[in-house]
Amino acid sequence: MDRTAPTEHPVLPAIAARWSPRSYLATPVTDAQLHSVLEAGRWAASAYNEQPWQYLVARKNVEAEAYEKLKACLVAFNQGWIGEVPVLMLACARLNSAGNGKPNPWSHYDAGQASSAMAIQAAALGLQLHQMAGFDAAAARAAFSIPEDVAPIAAMVLGTPGPASALPEQLAQRETAPRMRKPAGEVFFFGKWG
Ligand SMILES: Cc1cc2nc3c(=O)[nH]c(=O)nc-3n(C[C@H](O)[C@H](O)[C@H](O)COP(=O)(O)O)c2cc1C
Repeated sequence: MDRTAPTEHPVLPAIAARWSPRSYLATPVTDAQLHSVLEAGRWAASAYNEQPWQYLVARKNVEAEAYEKLKACLVAFNQGWIGEVPVLMLACARLNSAGNGKPNPWSHYDAGQASSAMAIQAAALGLQLHQMAGFDAAAARAAFSIPEDVAPIAAMVLGTPGPASALPEQLAQRETAPRMRKPAGEVFFFGKWG
């Protein structure tokens, strides 16, 4: 199943290849693949090079208890499709600057950049990383004793995409629906707003 983005202008192959599947194979992600994905996040840009992102990583076959705990924090819809995906992660942002202890207004932005780099690296490796807002941040904080000044932002799965036919009918349809984006003119304003 080819889900390559039908871009209007050329982009890097991994950017066009990245998407958010809901069907995954149980095939483990190798250590080399996982570390490449994490490394891509580590090298993201950040305000003042604060690197405010922090990730909890739970491999189904290695950090099995953490995996189940993180899975239990997902909303029912997301628990319903993740199946046997081999890796779950939790993207977090340190809210205060390590330098001066004051709130860092860019921490979420920077953590998003790290996650985006990881998703693109995953796609380059033939994997996909699917981010999820649908999780209980308070439950995740409690389950992993995440400090108060660190915000759990998004859960994510990492694995090898599987066939859409493995999903229930409604989700299978969404898995194969055309990929859509707003027209460029709605989001890029050259010279004047709107
Ligand atoms: C911050 C964020 C939260 C998301 N939350 C969920 C979610 O809880 N469940 C889900 O199935 N998909 C979730 N998604 C996936 C989006 O629906 C998906 O990225 C969007 O439809 C665009 O599709 P694409 O990633 O395949 O290009 C989320 C994506 C992002 C970036």
